Amino acid sequence: MSRKLLVAGNWKMHGSLAFVREMMSGLSSQLPAQINYDVAVFPVYIHLHEVITSKSTHVACGAQNLSEYDDGAVTGEVSAKMLADLGCDMVLVGHSERRVRNNENNEEVAKKFAQALKFGLTPILCVGESSVERQNGTTQTVVWQQIKAVLDLVGITKLAEGVIAYEPVWAIGTGETASANQAQEVHQFIRSQLALNDDTIARRIRILYGGSCKGSNAYELFSMPDVDGGLIGGASLTAEDFMAICQQADRLSQGV
Ligand code: PGA
Repeated sequence: MSRKLLVAGNWKMHGSLAFVREMMSGLSSQLPAQINYDVAVFPVYIHLHEVITSKSTHVACGAQNLSEYDDGAVTGEVSAKMLADLGCDMVLVGHSERRVRNNENNEEVAKKFAQALKFGLTPILCVGESSVERQNGTTQTVVWQQIKAVLDLVGITKLAEGVIAYEPVWAIGTGETASANQAQEVHQFIRSQLALNDDTIARRIRILYGGSCKGSNAYELFSMPDVDGGLIGGASLTAEDFMAICQQADRLSQGV
């Protein structure tokens, strides 16, 4: 089954309105009108509107987080309904920076995933082990617990309406990328676990790699059989760097 590659830029807490305008005009002018892979960017909440109004139709826009609640007295949070109302397509859930800094646990992340689906947003579920967990040999256990919490809440069919991003924490923002084989090993593990629930659906779900992915390693990573694109942090912050990754997705989507 062929899955469309997705190149997703997580801008984290970077930028300004001027940055957003420059990035969006760079992407609009450099991305071809027809592409066979998907592109998405994830600005901070207050820049979402600017991205949504300036993006070309084939670029999707997502938020970096959402509330697990529908609405109510939850100061400082933003609901899935509000994001959908604004015109967002996607949303990140359970990014490791939020799991660590904001103590988001697997159950909360699962609720956020369900909330996103409820309002028609595509959630990208971020999972991944720390360097200590990798050294302890618990990578698979940790990653599967993170996914299983969502699976238990929403079921396999709904899980596959979202995207999974495997982001080893030790590779995020460190310049230390997982090798293509290391990534493939975990991606294959995830897909084989999902296949125990439903083989057809497991083959359909996209699993992105994230962690120091850049133009120079994207081709090798994305050409792995179970790697369906990337969630890109640092290398999504200039149009030039981001386009370098998109070009690799373009080559692969055309089979070259
Ligand atoms: P990085 O970040 O590409 O800067 O390592 C990836 C991410 O956190 O999504």
